[in-house]
Amino acid sequence: MSGHEKVEKNLGLLLILLVLVISVGGLVQIVPLFFQKSTTEAVSGLKPYSALELAGRDIYVRENCNVCHSQMIRPFRAETERYGHYSVAGEFVYDRPFLWGSKRTGPDLHRVGGRYSDDWHRVHMINPRDVVPESIMPGYPWLEDTPADATHIKKKMSVLRTLGHPYTEAEIEEAPKALENKTEMDALIAYLQGLGTSIKARR
Ligand code: HEC
Repeated sequence: MSGHEKVEKNLGLLLILLVLVISVGGLVQIVPLFFQKSTTEAVSGLKPYSALELAGRDIYVRENCNVCHSQMIRPFRAETERYGHYSVAGEFVYDRPFLWGSKRTGPDLHRVGGRYSDDWHRVHMINPRDVVPESIMPGYPWLEDTPADATHIKKKMSVLRTLGHPYTEAEIEEAPKALENKTEMDALIAYLQGLGTSIKARR
C-alpha cells in the first residue's frame, strides 16, 4: 500500500493529518498579522474617539446600525468608486469592538464622515424618507429627545486608555462636560462625521 493510500483508507490518521495541515496553514496566515506594523499601528492622523464620538458609537452599537451597514470598504474598483479609499487595518486600532459588519442592506458607512451636513443626518435619522423617498431604513426620532448619557464616559475612556488608546488625563476629566446639553442624536452624528476621515483620499 502506498503512503497516500494508507492515509486515504485510515480515517483516524486522515483526520489527524487534516487538523495538522489546517492548524499550520492557519497559524502561518494569522500569527504574522500580530507583528506587522501595517496591521497593528494607527494610520497617521488617526485619533481615538472624542467623548462625544465615543458616546455616539455606543448608540450605533445599541441601535444595531451595523446589522444593515458595514464599515469595511473592500479594495475593488466598484467599491472604491462608490465609497472612497478602501479600508486599511491601521484605521481600526481604536475600534473596540470592530463594527465591520457582514451585511449591506444599506450602504457601507466607513467613509461617510463629511459626506453630508449635520442637518442632513438629523433629518435622515428622524425619518429617512424625508431625504431619500425610496429608503427602507427605519427612523430613530427618539435620539433627538434623549440626552446623551455621561454616567460611564470617564470610566469607559480610562478602560480604553489601559488598552492603549492615548487619552490624556485632561480629556478624561472633561469628558462629562463634552456631553453636557448634547442629545443622543448629536453624539451619533459626531461619530458618523468622523468615520473614515483619517485617510483623506476620497472620490
Ligand atoms: C433595516 C436596515 C437599516 C438599519 C437598521 C439602519 N440603516 Fe441606515 N440605511 C439603510 C438603507 C437601505 C440606506 C440607503 C437609503 C437611505 O439613504 O436612507 C441607509 C442609509 C444610511 C445613511 C446614508 C449613507 C450614504 O452614504 O448615503 C446613513 C448615514 C445611515 N444609513 C446611518 C444609519 C445609522 C446611524 C443607523 C442606526 C441608528 C442605521 N443607518 C440603521 C438601512 C438601514
